[in-house]
Amino acid sequence: MKNSEIFFGKDIISLDQFNRKSVEKVFATAAKIKKTPTKKLLKILPGKIVGLMFFEPSTRTFSSNSAAVKRLGGQTVEYQNPLSTSSVVKGETIEDTTKMMEQYCDAIVMRHPIVGTLKKVAEVADVPVINAGDGIGEHPTQALLDMFTVFEKFKHIDNIKGLIVGDLLNGRTVHSIIKCLSIFPNNTLYLLSPKQLRLSNKDLEEAKKRKIKLIEIKSFEEIPADCHFWYWTRVQKERFTDKQEYEKLKLNFILTKKLVDKKAGKNTLIMHPLPRVGEVETEVDNDPRAVYLTTEAKNGMYVRMALFSLILEDRK
Ligand code: NCD
Repeated sequence: MKNSEIFFGKDIISLDQFNRKSVEKVFATAAKIKKTPTKKLLKILPGKIVGLMFFEPSTRTFSSNSAAVKRLGGQTVEYQNPLSTSSVVKGETIEDTTKMMEQYCDAIVMRHPIVGTLKKVAEVADVPVINAGDGIGEHPTQALLDMFTVFEKFKHIDNIKGLIVGDLLNGRTVHSIIKCLSIFPNNTLYLLSPKQLRLSNKDLEEAKKRKIKLIEIKSFEEIPADCHFWYWTRVQKERFTDKQEYEKLKLNFILTKKLVDKKAGKNTLIMHPLPRVGEVETEVDNDPRAVYLTTEAKNGMYVRMALFSLILEDRK
């Protein structure tokens, strides 16, 4: 199988679909696209239309997907708020909405609050479907852009030591990152969260079967020296039924400049999928190791460009 055929016409629903070769292909394509002149990129998807349907709020994922398609010369049909602007309000099923979008579009990018919906959508759709986040399930393209950012800096994605902090139970980006890093050998993740927001037992059990070492720690004191990256996450307010519980847990682990100076290595990347809501102090922003407002966000667009070109570009 030629490399390009790994992706052409395929859905991207979960990191479970990936292997070493396909992750490396995404990274290599993103790196190449980053270096390609703007004018040349416009020739990749002319005449193609991608539908963006976001049933949950989004800034970066929505905008970077939209920008990615346009930078490749394609166009988009966009629904930021289908729950108030589309026929879903009238009671249309997700299956019917999907069947309609595919009459107009060459691919569909969708975000939905219910785990498993994107799998269902991919089953009914005849065009490629990309999961832009399904509830507390997965967020595969965010994990790919995050790990591309790590790969770009260190030139390898095995033998990585990372720290993930925050809402590991509900953070879909975390779930996809664990799967992504478990494809490669000798990766270790240190996990720090309030005990109510630990990774679920099911996720912990599953990780044990994979080639990844997960080490749960209880305090900042236990953060090991010289991590390749720190990945802070937001406590996912929208997943809580008890708002008081959310208030109690939301700022248990705040990333301060003092902590960076004390515990981060000189090359540690400081990452966050964003949005942040108080768990990373703004004084950290200007630290050269902090990439969440810069490289990491921008790589979101390049990695999505890579995926669109691999999935949709006409092969001669
Ligand atoms: C994340 C998401 O939606 O899962 N954001 C993003 O896509 N960049 C993280 C979050 O909302 O906390």
